[in-house]
Amino acid sequence: MLIKEVLGAKDLINSEIELNGWVATHRVQTQLLFISLNDGSSLNNIQIVSEYTKEEKSNYSELLDNLYKGVSLQIKGKLIESPGKGQAVEMKTTLDNITILGTIDPTSFPMAKGRLPVEYIRSFPHLRTRTNLGAMVLRIRNCCSFATHKFFNELHFLNIQTPLLTSNDCEGAGETFEVKNGSNDFFENNTFLTVSGQLHAESLALGMGRVYTFGPTFRAENSNTTRHLAEFWMVEPEICFVSLPELMMLGENYIKYCIKEVLNTCQADIEFVNKFIKKGHYQVLKNIVDNPFKLMDYTEAIDILKEKKDNTIKWGDDLSTEQEKYLTEVYGPTIVYNYPKKIKSFYMKENVSHHVNNEKTVMAFDILVPTIGEIIGGSIREDNYDILKHNMEDKKIDNLDWYLDLRKYGSVPHGGFGLGFERLIMLITGVSNIRDTISYPRYPKYCFA
Ligand code: 4AD
Repeated sequence: MLIKEVLGAKDLINSEIELNGWVATHRVQTQLLFISLNDGSSLNNIQIVSEYTKEEKSNYSELLDNLYKGVSLQIKGKLIESPGKGQAVEMKTTLDNITILGTIDPTSFPMAKGRLPVEYIRSFPHLRTRTNLGAMVLRIRNCCSFATHKFFNELHFLNIQTPLLTSNDCEGAGETFEVKNGSNDFFENNTFLTVSGQLHAESLALGMGRVYTFGPTFRAENSNTTRHLAEFWMVEPEICFVSLPELMMLGENYIKYCIKEVLNTCQADIEFVNKFIKKGHYQVLKNIVDNPFKLMDYTEAIDILKEKKDNTIKWGDDLSTEQEKYLTEVYGPTIVYNYPKKIKSFYMKENVSHHVNNEKTVMAFDILVPTIGEIIGGSIREDNYDILKHNMEDKKIDNLDWYLDLRKYGSVPHGGFGLGFERLIMLITGVSNIRDTISYPRYPKYCFA
């Protein structure tokens, strides 16, 4: 059985069960052995107690002398009501029912000690799940992944898969990894790892109405920061017949939904976060869930930043991470929309009647969250053939005739967004470096295993 299944399971009291896991801590006393066992199913350990005579103790010295943090065990025993505080149940067993599955040399095991610095843990991706931090992050990731599918499924979105190998560079920012097969041209055209599933998702939405893709994304930007990865996961819904306010609300609701799911189903992990990663983080998450996000036109954001933060900023500038963070410090999660056309991607829909100082704006929005900055970027898509074609010519984007076709054959208003899944995990777990939110992080000069 899993430890998660038996903790708190009063109906299993007095049953004989088998548990498997790794030693978290243990104490060998004269006639009593305590093992705190963890199997990864929960942050919580189960206490195993074994009573023995002095004679038994010496007969089982090989077992008792080889118990260390990290040793793997199989234990059969009886689940009993715990007389101790802090746990409802514990397991009672005898030494002959404890089997060591895998031993450990405690002098070389990198995770032998209790609390380790996060930078140290990060340097052993293959052993990270042996730490509370590493396993907590992956359990919360799992919860958010499941919540993502639940959320979109409840709204009748169809989960589709878009290709990882592609012949286009969606954002046009030149941050693609090119795919080569030695000196052979496996594909006839230049081929890249995808930077976004958006364009393909759009083609599928235009026929299916509401779709979303959730997959890995690759960017070769040389951003050695705490919020960029070379390989990250993106959740990208694409919806037909949607307006900008509806789309922005969908993004807000989706973030809140994931947080609620984590608060409801990962209580032990959130308690750990609240205690050891970021004090008071539980309340921060509750506040995000309980309050509407601040809606702010880009022009208003520039005015505020100019007055309060940086008087050199001007209309037409992109917001820096520091400026984004400032807005969230003052207003909490903030949705900035109606960006200048000239700083945004070619596919974003022009606001025909919304010009600022004779400059065009687009129906684009970013959702900014405290300490991280941008977590979602999205827009209504340009559905007018002529304007889109003009935009593409302007930005020298070719090779996308198939994408233009979508505006030729029954074009409809549509839009979507991309949420950086690791940034969502940063937000929820409170970890301050994105490299700690994914099992095997990839970033410039680092691709371990
Ligand atoms: O704003 P971005 O670049 O948007 C797009 O790629 C759109 N095509 C998405 C769409 O509309 N379907 O990226 C979306 C999000 C960002 O807000 C950020 O959270 C995350 O992806 N992101 C990264 N996360 C980790 N590492 C990186 N290098 C990231 N680049 C973007």
